[in-house]
Amino acid sequence: MGSAIKIKGLSFRYRGFKEWALRDVDLEVEEGEFILIVGPSGCGKTTLCRCINGLIPHFYEGELHGEVTLLNDINVLEKEPYELVEYVGMVFQDPEAQLITSTVEREVAFGLENLGVSPDEMRARINWALGMLRIEHLRDKAPYELSGGEQQKVAIAAVLALQPKILILDEPTANLDPLSALEILNLLLNLKEKLGITVVLVEHRLSMIVDKVDRIVVMREGRIAANGKPRDVLKDKLVEDIGVEVPRVVKVYKELFGGERWIPLNPRELAEVVIHALKRHRDQEPLV
Ligand SMILES: Nc1ncnc2c1ncn2[C@@H]1O[C@H](COP(=O)(O)OP(=O)(O)OP(=O)(O)O)[C@@H](O)[C@H]1O
Ligand SMILES: [Mg+2]
Repeated sequence: MGSAIKIKGLSFRYRGFKEWALRDVDLEVEEGEFILIVGPSGCGKTTLCRCINGLIPHFYEGELHGEVTLLNDINVLEKEPYELVEYVGMVFQDPEAQLITSTVEREVAFGLENLGVSPDEMRARINWALGMLRIEHLRDKAPYELSGGEQQKVAIAAVLALQPKILILDEPTANLDPLSALEILNLLLNLKEKLGITVVLVEHRLSMIVDKVDRIVVMREGRIAANGKPRDVLKDKLVEDIGVEVPRVVKVYKELFGGERWIPLNPRELAEVVIHALKRHRDQEPLV
């Protein structure tokens, strides 16, 4: 597996601002990895996403130091954003604001037209992308007729049709109800499984996905404060201290057992730990 994203010594401040939004960030993401970026409001998550897809420095100006390289040799700083769309797709928080055409099909076709894809290829890719997101039935609908969850699926289908190797999603479920959020997150996991696509997800709802991602990157004040496997990162008190919403199972476990050992990431794992502890207790101190 090669490197999907390599960020070295990246610092950035928006033009006209004194504060650095990113401070000396180093981050590597392998091809096919699914990473979760978390951290308090204003810590630089969105800014980091913009640096990966080239919106910084090509759209948002400012002072930038460091390097961002995609897929081993694509230098983001030197490419124009339109050249990057084949490599990296971006989905934002507000689904409605991203949808610009009159039907779902046109929406998915839009980016492909700009790429100069042939009509046959375009038809095939639209069908494929709608199929991957399970929204073929919405093809002729207008984006404004859709629910927020459906709109977000259309936004994902539209970037997926460009067949990027990397998908970046900046709080894609923030405006959705829990059920739609879960559906979107499961679709993303499915894309990773089926296509081997690299996913960088900024998401607050940790409990829905923390047991399925490869890595968590915690940001604080423009820096990376922690970076590792979910179990290792969540074991640390740091995550709670900086205001990231820790999954309830982790909190319950820490209250029951302290935080030093193997942390459960979902209710099933917590139940297993509790049952194991009860059995041990019973064997040591028979009830009768
Ligand atoms: N377009 C912009 N112009 C100037 N400053 C900006 C701009 N966008 C973000 N910032 C500043 O950069 C810093 C990082 O912001 P960023 O939006 O990356 O944080 P975030 O982690 O995504 O926060 P949130 O969780 O609220 O989305 C903040 O201090 C913010 O005010
Ligand atoms: Mg943000």
